[in-house]
Amino acid sequence: MAVAAAPASATGAERDVEASINDLLGRMTIEEKVGQLNQLSGYGYNPAMTGQVKAGAVGSILNETDPAVVNALQRDAVENSRLGIPLIFARDVIHGFKTIFPIPLGQAATWDPSIVEEGARIAADEASSVGIRWTFSPMVDIARDARWGRIAEGFGEDPVLAGTLGAAMVRGYQTDDLSRPNTMAACMKHFAGYGASESGKDYNTTWIPEELLRDVYLPPFKLGADAGAATFMCSFNDINGVPSSGNRKLVRDILRGEWGYDGVMVSDWGSINQMIPHGYSADLRHSAQQAANAGVDIDMESYAYISHLKELVESGEVSEQDLDTMVANVLRLKYRLGLFDNPYVDEATARRFYAPASLAAAQKAVEQSAILLKNTGTLPINSKVKKIAVVGPMADAQHDQAGTWSFDLEKERCVTPLTSLREKYGAANVLYAQGLRHSRDKATDGFAEAVKAARKADVALFFAGEEAVLSGEAHCRTDITLPGAQAALLKALKATGTPVVLVIQAGRPLALSNVEADADAIVFCFHGGTMAGPGLTRLLAGEENFSGRCPVSFPRVSGQTPIYYNHKNTGRPAEGITLIDDIEIEAGQTSTGCTSYFMDAGDGPLYPFGYGMSYTTFSYTPPTLSAPEIAADGTLTVKCTVTNTGTVAGREVAQLYIRDHVASLIRPVRELRRFEKVELQPGESRELTFTLTGADLAYHIDGARTAVEPGEFSVWVAPDAQSGEAARFEIKK
Ligand code: GLC
Repeated sequence: MAVAAAPASATGAERDVEASINDLLGRMTIEEKVGQLNQLSGYGYNPAMTGQVKAGAVGSILNETDPAVVNALQRDAVENSRLGIPLIFARDVIHGFKTIFPIPLGQAATWDPSIVEEGARIAADEASSVGIRWTFSPMVDIARDARWGRIAEGFGEDPVLAGTLGAAMVRGYQTDDLSRPNTMAACMKHFAGYGASESGKDYNTTWIPEELLRDVYLPPFKLGADAGAATFMCSFNDINGVPSSGNRKLVRDILRGEWGYDGVMVSDWGSINQMIPHGYSADLRHSAQQAANAGVDIDMESYAYISHLKELVESGEVSEQDLDTMVANVLRLKYRLGLFDNPYVDEATARRFYAPASLAAAQKAVEQSAILLKNTGTLPINSKVKKIAVVGPMADAQHDQAGTWSFDLEKERCVTPLTSLREKYGAANVLYAQGLRHSRDKATDGFAEAVKAARKADVALFFAGEEAVLSGEAHCRTDITLPGAQAALLKALKATGTPVVLVIQAGRPLALSNVEADADAIVFCFHGGTMAGPGLTRLLAGEENFSGRCPVSFPRVSGQTPIYYNHKNTGRPAEGITLIDDIEIEAGQTSTGCTSYFMDAGDGPLYPFGYGMSYTTFSYTPPTLSAPEIAADGTLTVKCTVTNTGTVAGREVAQLYIRDHVASLIRPVRELRRFEKVELQPGESRELTFTLTGADLAYHIDGARTAVEPGEFSVWVAPDAQSGEAARFEIKK
């Protein structure tokens, strides 16, 4: 059965592809159609896999990274199957293939789409050189709860930042021509609402009102679709009782219907099958029917489609038209990738890894992602410093500095901070004492050596944090402080009187209120990857200035999570805070005030969204507006001048926030709408101009319906989500 002809706007080439697709569909058996929707994980060239490939029972393979095996399997598909339809080879290339970049949360801390795009371009060039043409990235799940291990894989808590950077990653992977052999199809994941997993426990249920889903969780996916992302992946979680893998409203109505998306939707690993334990499917046959009817094209590793889709179509429980549409989506992707014309990877030029320019780009990403959270003057390391103590479980951790989802890492290629510091300052001037064997180590037998080194040094650099395994999929923590005995070791170092710089490498924002006072400076680097060492060394030495800004709110204590900047004000916003240790004995019931805060933590983050220090300082003029009021469909121009008021060059991330003060549904105290990273020389000023439209001021008031309501708004151009002067304007009635 033919699928819809190409739209009138289609190019000649697109028409040809659609004609080819319909021609193929007309010649395919139902078994071959179902085979295109079956994705299996492959490891090696084995008879079980080749038999299925030759029979046309597999459409795509994930996790095969040997170019010779890729070509052998591809030859079976192209030359030894009945119709010769090529396979797609896929992999989780999340933040680099061999040259590992900072984890996506670290890339988000750069607030620089060009850095993210460059990293994705390099990842695609490396991975495609072994035959990988589809990556399951970018992950754009909004995460407001740092207990959730997968916060590491996304771009943080804000939809504008996450969507902008996700779209940049799509461009990097795909370029403007996906048929180029060194591109990869991007995959917007996990659609949708996965980051709202209750209590930050992975795979947990979510309850997301549609207006919140559409205001916060869906926008990054829409920006990815608009950027041309070739595929989507549905998420493991249920939304309000309906798993995404069988969610017609989410996939067929919103993604395909409202957004007009014609790319491929792949399930997550086993997520169709998992609708049985979810309690949504009675059995595998039922889950296959639900997923197919919801619009999920490819079944990754559930064996649901290959087992039951044929009979479901023959019984009419899944329409043949729907089956053909699903298959057409997959064939269209293969045509777009150029696989019908160029199915094989060039083994002569395979394994293009670690180009000097790639390593330099990875180092630049580290340098622009690390965040200076505190500095009492200890940094940068100055010329008076002769001896440097390097301590801690993350000082020389080649595997762990790469972070989660570094499947193809070659750890021996990772340059650690210890190595770089020794190179820069001379091994004799770097006194190394690990102190703790790994980040979870509770033993204190290494403390004495570390304290001894600190005593001999002019500055102590304590490389703390989380091992890679402590974040990522299924790796959630209820206590997000520094694990093990790291806080105790920091106290021991502080007691020596030597200035201590706490350098943290982790996969999530940690709760640092229990260590903040013990460090003279704090540098936070979301696992930096291959070049974490050189990048951090240049920053610590002042050869590069810090420009990383928080892509997530840093809680004071774990119990504050979820915590995020675009929160509601409540009817009793925090004021007159009385902390638990300051409460009088037999204090009266209302003596500590009745406003919204925690007795044992106060209110608000330790470090807010957008925050980060520099070796210089910046000033902002109050924003000026093109008009005091605009119509709901008007535009507003916002200007602000940022000045480098310090003595060294630096990069600043100017952030534009709005607030709708009175609305039919309460709006957040701030919402990011624009940002711009600017590099300024000492004394240099730059006038920034931003244009806002009604769409920037709209919100979902009733399901899909949006509103721009008359009334008073504020707008800030500020260095973080808690600073800056507001300008006010009105939306006219
Ligand atoms: C995993 C992840 C998903 C990944 C897929 C394939 O379980 O949820 O992000 O792309 O399986 O590895």
